Amino acid sequence: MNQKIQYDILVVDDNHSNLRLLTEILTDVGYKVRPVTDGKTALMTAFSKPPDLILLDVRIPDISGYEVCEKLKSDRRTMDIPVIFISALSEVLDKVRAFSVGGVDYITKPLQAEEVVARVKTQMNLRSLQKSLQEQNAMLQRVIGERLRAEEELIKQTIQLEDLNKTLAEKVAFEIQKNMENEMLLSQQSKLASMGEMLGVIAHQWKQPINAISLIAFDVRDAYEHGDLNNDYLLDSMKQIREQVTHMAETINDFLEFFKPSKEKVPFKLNTAIKKTIILAQYQLKKMSIGISLNCTYEREGKTIPYDLPNEICSCSPEIEVQGYPNEFKQVILNLINNAKDAILNKRGQANRSAKEGRIDLELSYSSGKAIIRVKDNGGGIKGDIIGRIFEPFFTHKESGMGIGLYMAKVIIEKHMGGKMYAENDEDGAVFIIELDGDFQE
Ligand SMILES: Nc1ncnc2c1ncn2[C@@H]1O[C@H](COP(=O)(O)OP(=O)(O)OP(=O)(O)O)[C@@H](O)[C@H]1O
Ligand SMILES: [Mg+2]
Repeated sequence: MNQKIQYDILVVDDNHSNLRLLTEILTDVGYKVRPVTDGKTALMTAFSKPPDLILLDVRIPDISGYEVCEKLKSDRRTMDIPVIFISALSEVLDKVRAFSVGGVDYITKPLQAEEVVARVKTQMNLRSLQKSLQEQNAMLQRVIGERLRAEEELIKQTIQLEDLNKTLAEKVAFEIQKNMENEMLLSQQSKLASMGEMLGVIAHQWKQPINAISLIAFDVRDAYEHGDLNNDYLLDSMKQIREQVTHMAETINDFLEFFKPSKEKVPFKLNTAIKKTIILAQYQLKKMSIGISLNCTYEREGKTIPYDLPNEICSCSPEIEVQGYPNEFKQVILNLINNAKDAILNKRGQANRSAKEGRIDLELSYSSGKAIIRVKDNGGGIKGDIIGRIFEPFFTHKESGMGIGLYMAKVIIEKHMGGKMYAENDEDGAVFIIELDGDFQE
């Protein structure tokens, strides 16, 4: 009965004994009953506190039951409340009108308690079903509303995210561009730094042919004075001069080519590139009593280049070919050689008179698709506490250093040529290792 107690029924009848009887029947089965005797009070009561069901006598003194029903059905507060009409058997109930004004059922007097309870119960069940349907519907509407709102929010957030992504992509592109410009600038600075040293190399390379030309000039004069200068003699002397001049021009071309930035990735021979760099550095190293060698360990008869044989060509064969920027790669090797030279000189400068002969040994090996270049010196190694920072831009321990040599080298090897570059110390000094994808050139 718990459920029925919740239901509230408005009973409208001007006949007091009927009203009492109905109130008793319904209260007995657990409904809450509000009895009224006229139409106006019925309407007021229903509007101010809508009941769950209305039992409405057709004949009431002020307004007819049909009119009361019509008014109830035309008001939003009461339109859904089921109305059961009550009429006396003697009266003629206008059933058509009763249903057309919104009644759901009718009961005839004299009242039978069971019939009243049964009809009320049926309406209450329907009402309860209707209510729960309405509640479910409202809940569904709420859920749909929330979903729609969530979807709208999601769309808004997606748009915001896309915008953010776009600006982020633009920012990243801008930073990359800036970075590239900086790197180019650094690379240019690094090249200028080695240009001074290179001029020394050119001067050295030119000394010998200039001497030779001057000797030929003296020789021609001697021949003339002794009457030996004939046509053949002159042609031969001129040929010799031309050869010397060609040699000088080649030196300049090599030098210019070294400083020309490579435009695009090309396949090039590692051995030749390393060897050419060594030749450029050799003259200076010799002056400082620093020996340099290149050893190809993938070939049984790898050849070492002694520093007093500047034009000796490494005979390692076949050569290893890699994809990349040959001139930039040569810069990397030159930077490593210069750093090694600085380390060796620094060690000597520390009054270490018993220092061993300075040595820079390059080694080229090959293992499962990778060319491995090791540049090793006996300059005492990288101080333990800085080894993790030497590849940072502008990190230097030298008074006149810029600290970009190794940074640039790593950018060229790793970013531009897809390789790896790292450093370690061995018992004599530092070892720089470069790994590049490569293949043997047939
Ligand atoms: N072979 C080496 N042995 C010992 N220390 C080294 C060696 N190579 C590099 N370093 C250390 O790493 C630092 C950074 O080297 P990096 O070439 O980047 O700059 P730098 O030589 O100081 O200046 P620069 O820009 O002129 O090359 C050096 O200052 C030095 O302390
Ligand atoms: Mg350096």
